[in-house]
Amino acid sequence: MNDIALAVALHILAIVWWIGGVAMVTTVLLPAARAMDNPHDGLAMFRRIEGRFAWHARAATLLAGASGLYMVLVLGLWPYFFVPTYWWLDAMLLVWTLFIVVLFIAEPLFVEEWLEERGARAPAQTLALLQRLHWIALIISVITVLGAAAGTNGWVY
Ligand code: HEM
Repeated sequence: MNDIALAVALHILAIVWWIGGVAMVTTVLLPAARAMDNPHDGLAMFRRIEGRFAWHARAATLLAGASGLYMVLVLGLWPYFFVPTYWWLDAMLLVWTLFIVVLFIAEPLFVEEWLEERGARAPAQTLALLQRLHWIALIISVITVLGAAAGTNGWVY
């Protein structure tokens, strides 16, 4: 079962890398950007830093997905996705799908363009909206991490 141990280790590394970054963007970067005197500068700083983190998030989501899928296949976990006690398996898939859609489809296709246009018009409101969306993503992710970590270690809900 060394392969499963390795998959768990890589999975946890990916989650720390990815969700830790989301927490940093939400609780440190966005408040710092919003506190800048000129909201145009705040938005520009946010976009520069977040643009670099997006590549980290893309790599980490791929690693989390590959290691997670490997465990599901080898351990034969598909039936558990339909058992309410294992809701955290569905939550992991949901959070992962949400981020994959945002990072690989929405951002390159239209979010960048939308940020350019709306950001030029209303930078302060755009930063406020971005912060709300990041909080939602972070809260769902934290609930999922807690549910999965407790669930895999025997907590029965
Ligand atoms: C395609 C996406 C994903 C799949 C298929 C997947 C699958 C899995 C599997 C099969 C396990 C081991 C379950 C067991 O040992 O019974 C696991 C563990 C875990 N996953 Fe995921 N996962 C995915 C995404 C995520 C995401 C997005 C998060 C966090 C937001 C996450 C957090 C965790 C945590 C914290 C554990 C517990 C590790 C431990 O304590 O051993 N996973 N995942």
